[in-house]
Amino acid sequence: MTITRASAFAPATMANVGVGFDILGLAVDGAGDTIIVEWRNEPGAVVLSIEGDNGKLPHEADRNVASIAANAYLKQIGATHGLGIHLKKGLPLASGLGSSAASSVAAVVAANTLCGSPLKQEELLDACLEGEAAVSGRHADNVAPSLFGGITLTNGTQIERIRRIAPPPSLYMAFVTPNVAVPTAMARAALPTHVTLKQMVQQTGAVAELVDAIYRGDVRDMAAAMERDGIVEPARAHLMPLFGEMRPLAKDAGALALVISGAGPTLCAVCEDEATAARVAQAMQDHYTAQGYASLARHGKVRDEGAVGEVLAES
Ligand code: HSE
Repeated sequence: MTITRASAFAPATMANVGVGFDILGLAVDGAGDTIIVEWRNEPGAVVLSIEGDNGKLPHEADRNVASIAANAYLKQIGATHGLGIHLKKGLPLASGLGSSAASSVAAVVAANTLCGSPLKQEELLDACLEGEAAVSGRHADNVAPSLFGGITLTNGTQIERIRRIAPPPSLYMAFVTPNVAVPTAMARAALPTHVTLKQMVQQTGAVAELVDAIYRGDVRDMAAAMERDGIVEPARAHLMPLFGEMRPLAKDAGALALVISGAGPTLCAVCEDEATAARVAQAMQDHYTAQGYASLARHGKVRDEGAVGEVLAES
């Protein structure tokens, strides 16, 4: 039997987890991108269709992150056949939910599934990073949690520099994405090029507190540490609509903390139970609506499982 069609789902992710700029990330339950792949006789990966992007993503194989990542995978395994990609975007673009990483990861996991899974999940990291590198730089803080699930500490792009940490069981998050695009490049351009020794000490202390709280499964301490970013958040806050109002509003509705998800504009409120997360997401969305911003709201836990592939047809 030969596999002729396969799919993969890769979850949304929140990079940074508050104060862990470029080194922490987590997978978000529920939301993500789906890719279906099928063989074609010509070599190389091409994009056959894209749904859910409002026509915004490029279809050219050398510009779409899914085909770039799939091509890196085909090269890695020395494939002689090519494949066609159908991309179903479940995530808004440039929103701080790891949209490009999810497409890259789903493409590689789908391609590996189509090929009969010759490579282990860890061996797929480099090809996934090739896709991500094409649009937002070669970094793993979205790719790693999307590929492996859970919370990840990424002190580099090599697999041995990546640690997976189990999420606290009572961690729930409310995400609200206002309908404004904040490209990662723009959010990174807003950052200072130098920090003081005092800022460095404060920031590393907060990251240490956060990792300690995650290991202890203490959501309250985790939330407090996440909000202690004295460098990145202050430099980016002006790019996030209504950010200043949202933190007290989320806390009034029961949240323990509010942070920017990745490079924004999605905001993430940290909560201790599902009912509170649902209430906070609704309160934040209502405020955006009242102020004239369309938005998407969701709530849920960290997704423990990474991207998954599925065989759809064999002949
Ligand atoms: N760590 C990155 C940033 C996430 O905050 O710029 C975006 O991919």
